Amino acid sequence: MKKLYIHPLPVRIWHWTNAVGFVLLILSGLQIRYLDLFQWVTFRTAVVAHNWIGFVLIANFFIWLGFYLFSDKIKVYHPELSPTKYFQASFKQIQFYGYGIFRGEPNPHHPSAYRKFNPLQSMMYQIIMMMLVPAQFFTGLLLWDVARFSSIVEALGGLRVVDTVHVLLFIVFSGFIVVHVYLASLGHTPSAHFKAMLTGYEEIEDEEEHH
Ligand code: HEM
Repeated sequence: MKKLYIHPLPVRIWHWTNAVGFVLLILSGLQIRYLDLFQWVTFRTAVVAHNWIGFVLIANFFIWLGFYLFSDKIKVYHPELSPTKYFQASFKQIQFYGYGIFRGEPNPHHPSAYRKFNPLQSMMYQIIMMMLVPAQFFTGLLLWDVARFSSIVEALGGLRVVDTVHVLLFIVFSGFIVVHVYLASLGHTPSAHFKAMLTGYEEIEDEEEHH
């Protein structure tokens, strides 16, 4: 068994702050949107908490972005530029999650410090972090003070459009967390990837080490 340092401290701090924050935003968002179904706290508390957590996560996002922009670890997010190679590797990974894993086959991806993501993760995390998360924060900011940002809200098609985008993304993130936590439990032991995101070190099995 070999230990590989793959999650630097700033990424771990960002990740767990973000994870806890997202769960709280989803819970408070549920109450704000579906008031007749969920009343965990008073409506006012839900709104104030939702706004504050939103601002904390916007600031936190810049820890993640800053770390990657100013370190060579950005390489973990560099895409595979050959479409053939990319799709072949993605197909292998899908085959593993959908079939191979149930037959005890080894994971086709072998992580290293600069290639810690499999092709599906690298694509998904990029879409999430560079498009969906910023879009959610931006629409959230507009909804926080509609009067102040009225010209931007109007330019985007009005309050209904901005609000619909925010709620649709909320549904996407709720689904993402479920899939993400399931996939994160598919390491060589169910807790392996969670421990790695806490300690920074991923344990590599001898069979994988061989590659
Ligand atoms: C709610 C509980 C969550 C748990 C238990 C969890 C767990 C994990 C684990 C174990 C990893 C490292 C292994 C891997 O890449 O699969 C990881 C990575 C990652 N997670 Fe999560 N996660 C959670 C929520 C979130 C949320 C809400 C987001 C974004 C909206 C997110 C985005 C990411 C990203 C982008 C990475 C890669 C980070 C990097 O190294 O740059 N996670 N997560």
